[in-house]
Amino acid sequence: MSKPAVPFPPEDELYSNAWAKDIFKGKVVFCTGGAGTICSGQVRALVSLGANAAILGRREANTKAVAAEIAKVRPGSKVLGFGCDVRDYNSLVGAVEATVQELGGIDFLICGAAGNFLSTIEGLSSNAFKTVIDIDLLGSYNTVKACLPELRKSRGRIIFVSATFHYTGTALQAHVGAAKAGIDALSHTLSIELGPAGITSNVIAPGAIANTEGMERLAPRNMIPEDMKKNPAKLNPLGRWGTVSEVADATIFLFSEAGRYVNGVTLVVDGGSWRNSNSIANFLYPTIFQPGATDFDFMTTKGAK
Ligand code: HXC
Repeated sequence: MSKPAVPFPPEDELYSNAWAKDIFKGKVVFCTGGAGTICSGQVRALVSLGANAAILGRREANTKAVAAEIAKVRPGSKVLGFGCDVRDYNSLVGAVEATVQELGGIDFLICGAAGNFLSTIEGLSSNAFKTVIDIDLLGSYNTVKACLPELRKSRGRIIFVSATFHYTGTALQAHVGAAKAGIDALSHTLSIELGPAGITSNVIAPGAIANTEGMERLAPRNMIPEDMKKNPAKLNPLGRWGTVSEVADATIFLFSEAGRYVNGVTLVVDGGSWRNSNSIANFLYPTIFQPGATDFDFMTTKGAK
């Protein structure tokens, strides 16, 4: 078996110690983008708490290898891996049918498939813009449509993995910001339309999560300006990046009994980062009013000393 291209972050735990061990026994999670670092971490946490799972990714061999790695977290669990492009509705329907046949149904849906690259608006062709919209937004719609008959049977729950950078404005992300805004709107609508069927629809919006493919590719640490390195609280009030396990904790909450009345919200998991983004006072605060605030272990998940 080939080594998964996306290993689980070495410094990360699965989740906090807040959860009882078997809370998801008998549940089935279906997750697109499931071979990526964040989504595989979400699924791994759910499996460790008793769920079975199907993960989908475009690279079939890699996705199957990650599924096999996830299954190791809980002996006896079943984790299926499917090669699937979320732009192809029929291939999603096939994966849903195979999942139902093997695992009995679908209780939890995570729409996590995403495409991203940095580009100025001039650098984006209309096909480049369309490609990201098709993967992120149309792909989420396709996934929900394919899973909906099963979610209606199980009175299931949906989580979309979105972002925060469209709340303000983020350079080089016109295509992704537009797609994520659309995903948020899709979730809002579904929370109203599907609520009467007992289905909840929510968004998790991770901020910068350490040791992920996206962060390494889009925000390489050697490109962070020196003054930011000296004052990481300028980037994040907690002075550190997030962990995959912190996104997993939010996922567990929304899928657990504790999250049963939460519908139509976005749970932002970013340490307060985006709230920090639009006031000069916020940028001055760490250096002027917090002596010692510069004593952060920058670009790790350890934070203030
Ligand atoms: C400008 C680009 C480009 C770039 C591709 N294109 N990369 N344009 N700058 N860097 C253009 C191509 O030229 C083409 O347009 C169009 O986009 C489609 O490209 P393809 O390669 O044919 O598409 P495809 O093979 O489907 O690949 C999709 C992809 C790719 C999104 C372009 O990057 C990808 O598959 N990425 C892997 C998934 C991923 O990105 N995951 C990270 C998600 S992390 P033309 O006009 O030439 O035909 C995340 C959160 C990050 O989202 C948070 C960080 C802070």
